[in-house]
Amino acid sequence: MKYHKKINMLIKANKSGGDIPMRKRIVAGNWKMNKTNCEAVEIIKELKDLVNGIDNVGVVIGAPFTVLSDLNKVVNGTNIKLAAQNMYPAANGAYTGEISPEMLKAVGVEYVILGHSERREYFGETNEFVNKKVKFALDNGLKPILCVGEKLEDRESNNTEAVVEDHVVNGLKNITKEEMKNVVIAYEPVWAIGTGKTASPEQAEEVHKFIRNLLVKLYDEETSQGVTIQYGGSMKSSNSKELIGKENIDGGLVGGASLDAKEFAAIIKSAV
Ligand code: PGA
Repeated sequence: MKYHKKINMLIKANKSGGDIPMRKRIVAGNWKMNKTNCEAVEIIKELKDLVNGIDNVGVVIGAPFTVLSDLNKVVNGTNIKLAAQNMYPAANGAYTGEISPEMLKAVGVEYVILGHSERREYFGETNEFVNKKVKFALDNGLKPILCVGEKLEDRESNNTEAVVEDHVVNGLKNITKEEMKNVVIAYEPVWAIGTGKTASPEQAEEVHKFIRNLLVKLYDEETSQGVTIQYGGSMKSSNSKELIGKENIDGGLVGGASLDAKEFAAIIKSAV
């Protein structure tokens, strides 16, 4: 308790030039397998005007590989950053169908969503493989958004913490304290993704706090306090303010609701 008071004071002090980095709120859209180039450019142009001038919340769009280059031309010089939704952990070579960090950086990508539950579920991605990607992304100048979260059956059998711990600990294997400055974690309960069922702010905060404490054990208090932990799973403008208002919820990873510029902008504004 005492410590948190101290950290809060330091965070406040940071606004006037102190040393401890203030944890940044980041709202990222995950477009998944949606939007052709024309559609993508149209929505990003609309979004750009709606979020113009917002500088205390990070705005990120996770778009399909095919539209990133076109989006880069529109977002260049704005406050919108680009994310890829996947990446292969090798520099180049015979990996048919895959995309390297270098290719992503060449089209202006800064973040990469890794370990999303859909990739774990449909493409058999293991913690080990996700960890390899997290490490490779960091080694090559991309910021991973590491997705973690339990399935409905895990929650119902009281295994939420065990599953989340497994995802976090193994996903971050060999990631240094210094590298953690560039890692974002997204807690996404699988039962809440695309289902319209959002975790209640209290349910979400409980797991976010668990992750925060886990980061203290893995690293230290200062490192843990600096990590942005997003919530994802049916986040929309009608519930985002309450979710992001929780102490350990530092933004969102937004699927369905990020496909509409006005709705997504409303979520971003609720985090300001
Ligand atoms: P949703 O998806 O907002 O549509 O539930 C979130 C996600 O999968 O990142």
